[in-house]
Amino acid sequence: MKRTSYSQWIAVFAVMSFLAFPVMVSARANNFPKVKEYRIERSMPPEAVACIECHRATTPGIFADWAKSRHANANITCLDCHLVQPGDADIAKGHEQYYGRSNLPYGQEKYRVPIAAIVTPKDCSRCHPDEAIQYGRSKHANTLEIIWKIDPWLNDGMNSNNERKTGCFTCHGTVVKLDEKGNIDPKTWPNVGVGRVNPDGSKGSCTSCHTRHRFWVGEARMPEACDQCHLGPDHPQIEIYEESKHGTLYHAYKNETNFNAAGGTWTPGVDYRAPTCAACHMSGSGTVKTSHDVTERLSWETQAPLTIRPQNFKPFPANTDWKAERDKMKAICLQCHGKSWVEDFYSGFDQAVKEYNDVYYKPARAKLDELYGKGLLDKTKFFDEHLELQFYELWHHEGRRARMGAMMMAPDYAWWHGFYEVKSRFNEFNEEADHLLKSGKKAYVYPDYPNATGSTQKPVEVFPKK
Ligand code: HEC
Ligand code: HEC
Ligand code: HEC
Ligand code: HEC
Ligand code: HEC
Ligand code: HEC
Ligand code: HEC
Ligand code: HEC
Repeated sequence: MKRTSYSQWIAVFAVMSFLAFPVMVSARANNFPKVKEYRIERSMPPEAVACIECHRATTPGIFADWAKSRHANANITCLDCHLVQPGDADIAKGHEQYYGRSNLPYGQEKYRVPIAAIVTPKDCSRCHPDEAIQYGRSKHANTLEIIWKIDPWLNDGMNSNNERKTGCFTCHGTVVKLDEKGNIDPKTWPNVGVGRVNPDGSKGSCTSCHTRHRFWVGEARMPEACDQCHLGPDHPQIEIYEESKHGTLYHAYKNETNFNAAGGTWTPGVDYRAPTCAACHMSGSGTVKTSHDVTERLSWETQAPLTIRPQNFKPFPANTDWKAERDKMKAICLQCHGKSWVEDFYSGFDQAVKEYNDVYYKPARAKLDELYGKGLLDKTKFFDEHLELQFYELWHHEGRRARMGAMMMAPDYAWWHGFYEVKSRFNEFNEEADHLLKSGKKAYVYPDYPNATGSTQKPVEVFPKK
């Protein structure tokens, strides 16, 4: 929502808190959570009161989270998000049985309404259109299209569907499917990956960063909101952040940080001293506006094998100009740093990218192509020959770490987990490659590659058949 509406809400809250007297949870509610501020508005439809009262008894964890949220304060009820919308196929039919249970509060027919278990960015967009639009154009929302265009694990079927469900798709998102009866397919659910494809056609899941049912803006501003996915050997952003001075400051000054500022008003220097992931990549700062498109502010694609500009990333070209995006990021740094500090940082980052591309990546790629050309390596599958793995780890593991360590101020990742390991991998790769080239012997192919059973069919929901 825009800032103007925020001040209107302040007025609404002021009135509401004047009127609102906390209800004491009644005596029959021994096991109910202690919720201090919550009362039922007279204007609330009885069906919504039913959701709240029955769920207060049946799922007290969900009730308590909602009751403490800004949504509850603003009178946004369960019904506002879960009521079936026109076109929704995911009607929770099993839910209707609870309206015939006299042992449950409000378990009566007259309160019955159809509900959906899945709440998508499209549902949130009724009230938060800007966030949903920005999110929709990001690489987060579109990641399933991207990975199915380029990834050999998927396209060569080198892992199993369940390895994907519990691994890849937990971060990237599943295509949520319904069976003929309208029940959600457990092979695709539960899931809150960033690029989840929903039955209503919308992409993503806002709960990747805003966990339900608190939906607290402060949580998304903390680096912990990103660390479920942005970690590990191939994209260790959280480890890098922890190593950086910014991470040190985050921990040291956490108690002084005001995570609660209204959306779009979180101010460096006033509310926080240490930039977090969100502060650099999403939150507004100075003249730069808040954005739910994390592709903004980037000038390089450092996750790619060969580092390129975002607009030149073929599977999903960014609709941006890298120079303008870099200026946005710099404007954020300049809230806390001087110009030469920031310019000199970028020159080191650019040089790291250049050296990685020219000294390590391009020569290794040329040698790999030579081996394929001479038939010494087999091109039909990836990952089934040792040199393919060596090459993959060179760019996908240490090669990323080297670039990413340099770009977010973590010397140990830039060097010991980065360029140092790039060097040793490069030498081992070449030793083995040269041996094949000299001897003219074909590389050993792993027979019986384990669990290479995953589907190689691109999902039609993402790639509609023409
Ligand atoms: C009379 C009791 C009762 C009322 C009224 C009620 N629920 Fe439920 N609901 C339940 C119970 C019990 C479950 C959990 C068990 C389950 O998922 O099978 C549940 C499950 C759910 C689920 C998960 C469904 C799924 O398929 O995973 C959602 C979402 C939900 N309720 C929302 C609502 C909303 C929104 C309302 C108001 C329109 C509401 N409930 C009213 C008892 C109730
Ligand atoms: C601001 C929107 C919003 C409101 C308000 C809301 N929900 Fe939800 N709810 C969600 C989202 C988002 C999910 C996650 C579903 C998904 O992944 O698509 C969810 C999931 C659920 C689930 C299934 C979760 C699980 O862990 O099994 C239940 C049950 C549920 N909500 C009940 C309620 C009840 C009861 C209320 C009111 C007290 C409520 N919701 C209010 C957005 C909302
Ligand atoms: C019926 C309208 C409505 C729907 C639907 C809705 N919201 Fe909200 N949301 C509000 C209002 C009103 C506020 C409070 C005013 C504000 O902060 O702009 C709010 C506030 C928020 C906040 C800020 C909370 C804070 O701590 O400051 C977040 C985050 C949020 N909503 C996320 C979501 C998500 C995610 C969904 C969908 C799952 C959703 N909302 C669905 C109306 C809605
Ligand atoms: C722990 C969460 C997680 C898991 C598990 C995971 N990924 Fe990723 N993946 C990410 C993140 C985060 C990025 C973004 C890296 C970056 O931009 O720095 C990414 C990037 C990618 C990219 C590059 C996309 C681009 O824009 O170039 C591909 C392809 C990919 N992942 C495929 C997969 C596949 C296939 C699997 C399973 C075999 C998988 N990932 C498992 C989180 C994960
Ligand atoms: C549920 C997993 C998940 C969470 C949580 C998550 N991300 Fe991501 N992020 C991904 C994946 C997957 C990608 C890779 C998308 C692709 O390139 O296909 C990605 C990519 C990115 C990119 C690169 C975009 C680009 O255009 O190259 C940025 C920046 C980013 N995320 C920032 C964040 C920030 C900041 C947070 C926390 C506020 C966050 N992410 C939370 C999974 C996640
Ligand atoms: C990658 C993490 C991430 C995802 C996914 C995400 N958000 Fe946010 N969201 C944030 C961050 C960070 C902020 C705080 C920005 C700031 O500091 O002002 C925020 C703030 C908000 C606010 C508060 C803005 C205000 O004016 O009060 C709303 C509303 C919101 N998000 C809605 C959504 C909706 C709707 C979706 C899904 C379409 C979504 N978010 C998905 C990270 C995320
Ligand atoms: C001090 C600001 C700052 C902080 C804090 C920060 N980043 Fe970054 N991040 C950057 C800069 C600068 C770049 C490189 C931008 C470019 O391409 O020009 C970057 C790039 C990225 C990328 C893009 C990788 C790619 O695909 O090329 C991802 C993903 C990312 N950051 C995630 C995170 C996460 C997650 C956190 C928190 C754990 C975080 N960042 C914290 C400044 C920051
Ligand atoms: C909210 C304020 C803030 C923002 C925004 C910010 N920084 Fe910092 N940064 C600091 C503070 C404070 C220090 C610690 C200074 C010291 O060591 O005395 C620091 C330290 C650094 C360091 C030193 C690292 C080391 O190892 O000593 C670098 C480099 C740096 N920042 C670069 C950047 C860049 C580049 C950006 C933008 C992408 C940025 N910062 C954004 C506050 C910020």
